Amino acid sequence: MKGVVLAGGLGSRLHPLTKITNKHLLPVYNEPMVYFPIRTLAEAGIREILLVTGGQNAGDFLRLLGNGESFGLRQLNYAYQVGEGGIADALRLAEPFADGDPICVVLGDNLVEKSIARHVEQFRQRGEGAHILLKEVSDPSRFGVPVFEEGRIVRVEEKPEKPASPYAVIGVYFYDSSVFERISRLRPSGRGELEITELNNSYLAEGKLTHSVLDGWWTDAGTFESLLLATNLVAESVTRKEQEKNESSRRLEAVPIHS
Ligand code: DAU
Repeated sequence: MKGVVLAGGLGSRLHPLTKITNKHLLPVYNEPMVYFPIRTLAEAGIREILLVTGGQNAGDFLRLLGNGESFGLRQLNYAYQVGEGGIADALRLAEPFADGDPICVVLGDNLVEKSIARHVEQFRQRGEGAHILLKEVSDPSRFGVPVFEEGRIVRVEEKPEKPASPYAVIGVYFYDSSVFERISRLRPSGRGELEITELNNSYLAEGKLTHSVLDGWWTDAGTFESLLLATNLVAESVTRKEQEKNESSRRLEAVPIHS
């Protein structure tokens, strides 16, 4: 399976922070935002990744990430989105890269706490259709929201005023090779974008969309509130990991050496 990170768009909800740089280059605690989705894919065993970006700072990604060696990648590929026609419009550019393989797509402003390796493995074995991940949230109307009937998703609604469930469709998606033909059939939404939610609904209409609920925390970082939340969550994780490391090295030091 190949990986795609989508890091285009205007980041207008973070103005003026994004007036002179791309949202995904902003810091989340101690690292640039784009490190997180790349690491999510790399740590799940995905070694070939395409980063789609746009705007005036595309060259900065190359300077920051190079060929992705520091993430253990075989190669980091790049594509340039002209304009900001939506998430599915950015994904369209991944067609030659995917070259018929299934893909795992991560939105560049999405952070997850735990490994997604289990989902990658399950989709790798299945190889067809699409799979989405859900997380219960307090403010679903900011996101794509699944509508359930008798325990099954019947529709996904993008930013509904009255959410039908407490779940957000998070920005980690699995697609088979029919994804690009499906994108070519999408029409721009009311806000002039090719919506990822409509792409997911096209799989759903054919009974080919499955879902699971994500373990651990998840957040986007595309608004001031969620960027602050992401920063705090990452800071807590980093501190916890450091404490665990210190504790295990203290335990090792305490072990008596027998000669
Ligand atoms: O965070 C999860 C949510 O992301 C989903 O629940 C929604 O269904 C999905 O539409 C999306 O909602 P947002 O309104 O938060 O998406 P946003 O416009 O912030 O775009 C998310 C990422 O997608 C962004 O960080 C970069 C990439 N993107 C976006 C656009 C509009 C592109 O690469 N190109 C684009 O043209």
